Amino acid sequence: MPALTSASLCCTLISVCFLFISADQINIKAVPGQTVTLPCQAPKHTHIIVVKWSRCDLDTEYVLLYRDEQFDPENQHPSFKNRVDLQDRQMKDGDVSLILKDVMINDTGTYKCHVVQTKTNQGKRVYLKTDPIIINLSVVLPDQKVDNITAESGQNIVLPCRAPNTLLIPAVEWSRHDLETQSVLLYWKKEIVTYLQHLSFKNRVDLQDRQMKDGDVSLILNNVTINDTGTYECRIFTNERRSWKSSSIISLRVVPPGQTGGHTEDGSVGLIVGLIVFAVLLVEIVVGILIYRKNKQKTN
Ligand SMILES: *[C@@H]1O[C@H](CO)[C@@H](O)[C@H](O)[C@H]1NC(C)=O
Ligand SMILES: *[C@@H]1O[C@H](CO)[C@@H](O)[C@H](O)[C@H]1NC(C)=O
Ligand SMILES: *[C@@H]1O[C@H](CO)[C@@H](O)[C@H](O)[C@H]1NC(C)=O
Ligand SMILES: *[C@@H]1O[C@H](CO)[C@@H](O)[C@H](O)[C@H]1NC(C)=O
Ligand SMILES: *[C@@H]1O[C@H](CO)[C@@H](O)[C@H](O)[C@H]1NC(C)=O
Repeated sequence: MPALTSASLCCTLISVCFLFISADQINIKAVPGQTVTLPCQAPKHTHIIVVKWSRCDLDTEYVLLYRDEQFDPENQHPSFKNRVDLQDRQMKDGDVSLILKDVMINDTGTYKCHVVQTKTNQGKRVYLKTDPIIINLSVVLPDQKVDNITAESGQNIVLPCRAPNTLLIPAVEWSRHDLETQSVLLYWKKEIVTYLQHLSFKNRVDLQDRQMKDGDVSLILNNVTINDTGTYECRIFTNERRSWKSSSIISLRVVPPGQTGGHTEDGSVGLIVGLIVFAVLLVEIVVGILIYRKNKQKTN
């Protein structure tokens, strides 16, 4: 934030003066779909006459423009229509922070906040023009790792997913990437929304914990079949940001019974070791019996 204390009001003799504020650079990172607030604070106890939110690469169009006591949608870049607002439309105490909803990758850029204000100073109306506040916004895909799970058909499995914070979770959606609009499980207002569910998951899925204790929104998938193979994604809706956020991506592979890599090897190795031990024991017992009989014959 700009150092308001370092601001200095120059010249009181001429009626138009400028207030200079050293500009700090602010960097904000976001993921697509998020709502971000770009902070901009103008000096308090003034009358704001112009607010210009612009982006350096958009020549003549604004992100948001306020002048003549109103918002001016005509000079707004179409991409920002219905996506931006001021945090406080009254701009109380000089707060002209911008809210940008549902950010996209191409919202990445350098944003500028320009404010022109007036202030009454010893009976004179004084214009205050502050240095623009510069904000670098970078919108990037979350670097999310994909977990791989292999299961045997017929097994009941759990696909893990945990909400990053344990705030109230109004909705969870589990989807599979190849099923476009249908879901695996949509949990909304404490109920499974079945009309959006793909038929193959009917009565086979549930949340591991419907109370979602500690943010646990893992999925139970019963009696998996080879056709369940696919990439599953868990998304959580948060009231806080009024948006969906991806929390877990799992690549599931379902194989015929007895073919999960590790298990098969472990099982067969165990079996072979068992058979060898058994065979050795058997030989020892047989030899033992033969020796015993021989000795008995001798004594007889
Ligand atoms: C960003 O992309 C969207 C569509 O993908 C497009 O409608 C919008 O105009 C783009 N924004 C800018 C500033 O070019
Ligand atoms: C903000 O972005 C501009 C243009 O990409 C770059 O020149 C500048 O160094 C960035 N500022 C910071 C603090 O990262
Ligand atoms: C999952 O498998 C993919 C490709 O098969 C691999 O690139 C990735 O690293 C694996 N992820 C994990 C967490 O092992
Ligand atoms: C599991 O699914 C198969 C068909 O894919 C079905 O024949 C079998 O009865 C199901 N088992 C259970 C326990 O539901
Ligand atoms: C998998 O899908 C195919 C094609 O839809 C179907 O013929 C087959 O019976 C399914 N297999 C299982 C195990 O559900």
